[in-house]
Amino acid sequence: MASPENDLALTVRELSNVYEEISLLYRLSEVFSVLSIDEISLRIADEAVSSLGVKTAAVLFLEEGGERLYTKASVGDWDGTKGFPQDDGVFWKVIRAKKPSAFCRLAETEYRNALPQFCSLMVCPIIGKARVVGALVVADKESGEEFFSSDSKLLMAISSQAGLAIENALLYSELESLLIGAIRSLVKALEASSCWTAGHTERVTEYAVGIGRVMGLSDDVVEKLKISALLHDIGKIATPKEILNKKDSLDKDEIIEIRRHPELGAEILVELKQFKDIILSIKYHHEHWDGVNGVFGLKHEEIPIMARILAVADAFDAMTSDRPYRQMMSKEAAVEEVQRCAGTQFDPAVVSAFLVWVEGFTPRHRVFSP
Ligand SMILES: [Fe+2]
Repeated sequence: MASPENDLALTVRELSNVYEEISLLYRLSEVFSVLSIDEISLRIADEAVSSLGVKTAAVLFLEEGGERLYTKASVGDWDGTKGFPQDDGVFWKVIRAKKPSAFCRLAETEYRNALPQFCSLMVCPIIGKARVVGALVVADKESGEEFFSSDSKLLMAISSQAGLAIENALLYSELESLLIGAIRSLVKALEASSCWTAGHTERVTEYAVGIGRVMGLSDDVVEKLKISALLHDIGKIATPKEILNKKDSLDKDEIIEIRRHPELGAEILVELKQFKDIILSIKYHHEHWDGVNGVFGLKHEEIPIMARILAVADAFDAMTSDRPYRQMMSKEAAVEEVQRCAGTQFDPAVVSAFLVWVEGFTPRHRVFSP
């Protein structure tokens, strides 16, 4: 029978559930705005485990084409290698219905053979603004209790935040692939016009990203570094081919002409307002740390960090690749030369990171098109 004490207890319980839901949404929206799709998925699984007090949580994604579900992230007793083909099992049922389902005694259901390791299970579709992106699964409470309606509400709250965050991250990564693809085509066109730069850009990109990661740059900066590296020599589009392809050493005027390519690259990209940091890295990628012999005479921290990394990556590839006018150096000799130039041509901190990165690096076969 209802009593004032019972009503109060019920209200307190309700309030505590609502508070839990609000603080959860706050935590998730804070976290999701800065993470990659892998990190978001792992956070969702972690959050589901801690918010619902379950032993296992898994984030399932729909494969492109929507024919299979696969595990993107999981915590606890979950076989992440197993896929779920279309219309097979409880996860697809939830996705089709676009509604959560809970099974407190899984052994008594038709799904007992598919998931024999669990006693109880709750599944919620992950829905973005425009599409179903997957499902969030939780199983077996630590306390051994069954799932209540408040658990279902929490799971739905996590799923709906997850849906928007995942959809945004997917959209971002699709746009990013499109952008990187377009840049790669542009760079290939540039390399095709010069007989000795084949593969140079891709290698410099690999080295720069490797150094940037050792230096602990954020994912966002590493992404900008990648684009900067892909585009670092784009200004050579405007350099006469006779100079780019010359087999003898360059005369004074030709050196002046080729030293213009960082500035020309920056000019080509100037309309891309979002590329401000990238443009500066390209413009200053031939600066020297000590300010001597660089193109613009900047020194030390005046040179953007991405430009300082590009300088080392670019020089290392130039030394370890064949050129029409000289043979390539060995990896060891090139590393020694980079080390020798720390503090003069190169930022010593970048060289330190380079030395860590290069330890695990084995040069691949260089392609040289005569
Ligand atoms: Fe360059």
